[in-house]
Amino acid sequence: MSNKMWGGRFGEGPDRIMEEINASIGFDQRFFAQDIRGSKAHCRMLAETGIISREDADQIVAGLDAVLAEIEGGAFEFRRELEDIHMNVEARLAELIGAAAGRLHTARSRNDQVATDFKLYVRDTIDHLDGQLADFQRALLDRAEEHADTIMPGFTHLQTAQPVTFGHHCMAYVEMAGRDRGRFADARRRLNECPLGAAALAGTSFPIDRHRTAAELGFDGPTRNSLDSVSDRDFVLETLSAAAICATHLSRLAEEIVIWSTPGFDFVRLTDGFTTGSSIMPQKRNPDAAELVRAKSGRVIGDLTSLLIVMKGLPLAYSKDMQEDKEAAFDALDALSLSLAAMTGMVTTLTVNEKSMRAAASRGFSTATDLADWLVRALGLPFRQAHHVTGALVAKAEKRGVDLDGLTLAEMQEVEPGITDEVYSVLGVDNSVASRTSFGGTAPGNVRAAVRRWRDELGS
Ligand code: ARG
Repeated sequence: MSNKMWGGRFGEGPDRIMEEINASIGFDQRFFAQDIRGSKAHCRMLAETGIISREDADQIVAGLDAVLAEIEGGAFEFRRELEDIHMNVEARLAELIGAAAGRLHTARSRNDQVATDFKLYVRDTIDHLDGQLADFQRALLDRAEEHADTIMPGFTHLQTAQPVTFGHHCMAYVEMAGRDRGRFADARRRLNECPLGAAALAGTSFPIDRHRTAAELGFDGPTRNSLDSVSDRDFVLETLSAAAICATHLSRLAEEIVIWSTPGFDFVRLTDGFTTGSSIMPQKRNPDAAELVRAKSGRVIGDLTSLLIVMKGLPLAYSKDMQEDKEAAFDALDALSLSLAAMTGMVTTLTVNEKSMRAAASRGFSTATDLADWLVRALGLPFRQAHHVTGALVAKAEKRGVDLDGLTLAEMQEVEPGITDEVYSVLGVDNSVASRTSFGGTAPGNVRAAVRRWRDELGS
C-alpha cells in the first residue's frame, strides 16, 4: 500500500529497506510535545485568518490534546510506516476526529514543521542546561567559600608554579561556566525566530499570519526568508558548539579530579557514591564518573563534527540529509546534561585534603617568584636580574636538598650580598597567597569577594 500521507501518485509502498532508512520516528518521537504545540498554534492561526473554520479548528485542537495525552500516558503506538513524529501525530488525529484533521496541514510543510519543532526542542534544552550550569556554579561557589584560604600548588605545564588557593581554583570554573551560559544564551537569542509558515521552501499563497504563530510559540518573530527557514541548521550547530566548549571545560575539571585523587597527589577524595571498585584489586577506588565526563566530551565534539559534515554539502533548501541532524544533537545534549549532573555531584561531595595540598604547595620552590619580586622591591634589582639571582638560589637549594627557606642567610648572600633576613617573610606559601591581591589574583580576600559577586549575580 502506498503512503496515505503523500502516496497519491504512488502505485506501491516503499521497499522494506527504504522504510527502514527513511523512518525517523525511532528518534524524532522526542519532539512530540513540541510538534503538538506547534500544530495547535498553526491551527489557531488558520482559524483566525479564516483559512479554516472555527469548528474544524476546535476539533483539531481538542484532538491534538487527546493525542498528547495518549503519548504522555504511554498508550500511543508509534508506527514506522508513518515515518516521523509529524505524520504519526496527524494520522492519529485523523483516527480520532475524522475529516477535519486533513485541514491542519494547510499552508505548512513538514519542512517548516520540523524546523519549528527542533527549534522549540533546542530552546527548551538550552533552558534546562542553563539551570544545570547555574547549579554547577553554586556547587563550586560553596566549595570556593569553604576553601578560600586552603593553599594548593598552582601549576603550569603541570609543574608546580606558584601557590594558589583551592577556592580560587574552583572560581576559575565558575567563570568558565558563566561564559558557557553566555554562549548558550547567545545561541538561544539568535535561534528565537519562528520558521513556521515558510512551508516547503517558498512560502504560501494562503493569507497566513506568521507573526501570530511566532508570538504564540514564544518566538521574537518569524524568520525572514522562507528558503533559509527550512534549509539551515545553524541553530543546532551553534548550540552544539557551545555544548562542545562546555563539555571541554567539564572534561578538564574531570581530568584534574582524576589527577588529584591519585594516591600520588591525594588532594581530594571522591565519595563512594562517585567511585567504583576493581574486581581484582581490592584497594582500588576508581574515579569512573570523572573519567566518563572526560570521555563524553569526545562524543559531544564528535556529534558537532558529524552535523557540520552532514550540512556542508547541501544545496538550498531542504534535503533528507537533514533528518540526520537529530540523533547527533540528542546524543550531545544528553551527554552534556548527564556530565553536568555528575560533575555537580562530585564537586558537592568530594572531600579536600588540605594537608596534602599545602605540603605539595610548599615543595617545588613555589615561592621563587615571590623571592624575585622581593629582590625587585627591597633591593631595587631589575626584574630580569632578580629572576637570574633567584634561579641561582633555586639551584643552590636543589643541590642541598632543601626548599628556598631552608637556605641560610649566609648561603643566600653568597649569591646576592644585599639580601637581608627580611627575605624569609616572603618565602612562606601563606604570605605568597596573601600578597596576590591584584584584581583577579588568588588572595583569600579576592576569592571571598568573587564568591559574593557571583552569588549576587546568581541570585542565591
Ligand atoms: N522527518 C523529516 C526530518 O526529520 C521531516 C521533514 C520531511 N520533509 C520532507 N520533505 N521529506 O527531516
